[in-house]
Amino acid sequence: MNPSAGERGTGHARRVLVTGGAGFVGSHLVRALAARGDRVTIVDDLSTGRRGNVAPEAEFIECSVADALSRLGGGPRFDEVYHLAASVGVDLVMRDPIGAIETNIEQTAALLRFVAAEGSGPVLITSSSEVYGKATRRVFSEDDDVTLGPTSVTRWSYACTKAIDEYLALGHHGAGSARCVIVRLFNTVGPGQVGEYGMVLPRFVRAAMRGEPLRVFGDGTQSRCFCDVRDSVRALPALLADPACHGRVFNLGSDVPVTIRELAELVRRVLGSSSEVVLVPYDKAYPAGYEDLQFRRPDLARVREAIGFEAAIGLERTIVDIAAALERQAIGGARA
Ligand SMILES: NC(=O)c1ccc[n+]([C@@H]2O[C@H](COP(=O)([O-])OP(=O)(O)OC[C@H]3O[C@@H](n4cnc5c(N)ncnc54)[C@H](O)[C@@H]3O)[C@@H](O)[C@H]2O)c1
Repeated sequence: MNPSAGERGTGHARRVLVTGGAGFVGSHLVRALAARGDRVTIVDDLSTGRRGNVAPEAEFIECSVADALSRLGGGPRFDEVYHLAASVGVDLVMRDPIGAIETNIEQTAALLRFVAAEGSGPVLITSSSEVYGKATRRVFSEDDDVTLGPTSVTRWSYACTKAIDEYLALGHHGAGSARCVIVRLFNTVGPGQVGEYGMVLPRFVRAAMRGEPLRVFGDGTQSRCFCDVRDSVRALPALLADPACHGRVFNLGSDVPVTIRELAELVRRVLGSSSEVVLVPYDKAYPAGYEDLQFRRPDLARVREAIGFEAAIGLERTIVDIAAALERQAIGGARA
């Protein structure tokens, strides 16, 4: 396998492929890559992504990953590939299980076959903390066992698809057909994220800005660790650039837990909102049989050791920036 342009030190701009580059994390990643001088090609079918997220300096192919790859095959070689396209989140999987499962597995399989056939540079696959399933540990390390619920509970299919993606990537890596890095993102938040797909923080921020109640599901004692997307996307190219990281799985996120109830109160305080916080029983928020997790906190020792990762942006700044982005969006929407 050929080294990337960066490794060769040719001085040429890297050619980089980002699938899902019109999505939340992808659009921040594309901006970071373009800022370091990369020539970025985005493939996105805009199923959850937005045209307004597409960086003007990037080439944009609007279609599914599999369809785009059949067009890109035989063309110039990509020095780096970031695969973020997916049907994201448990909500989406619950609403359209077949579509989401097929997308997450088939598009990743197609992408990896493309990388292998084209001899592309290293590929980063975004996986999810969901892979850890329903284990009751407080802190999750990459080599921990995966504990999923029964197949009759649709929720677990998202975790399963992401686990299959990991197996596929590690399979290619082991076979020598692709150099792969797997990144399990924990809750990633920031400007540009929308609340429609069940993402709790933008949902709270939007409600607080409108003076509407902040709906906390369950008793609100469940905790998560929220990492600003701008911190997360700094880490992705660093992991891909280091050959010592290839063939490995990394947790990525923040390891500072906050309960969902505390999060709601923080949003109210930071935005000076008069919204009330209301508790909504799970059976009113989710379909019957929904299982939530009490804790989800990453062990970050591996990513710290590999690239010295530390999150730098605090949750308060993230909340302010999400609110500002929603305001800009509303103004843009009103003008359009
Ligand atoms: N945001 C998080 O907290 C989080 C947590 C864990 C894992 N992840 C992973 O990070 C990646 C990016 O997530 P995100 O939060 O930016 O979600 P997102 O929905 O904003 O981005 C996904 C993008 O993929 C595109 N897409 C979906 N199916 C496609 C297909 N078949 N072909 C082409 N494009 C397609 C969508 O249009 C969207 O732009 C995903 O792989 C997700 O599983 C995100």
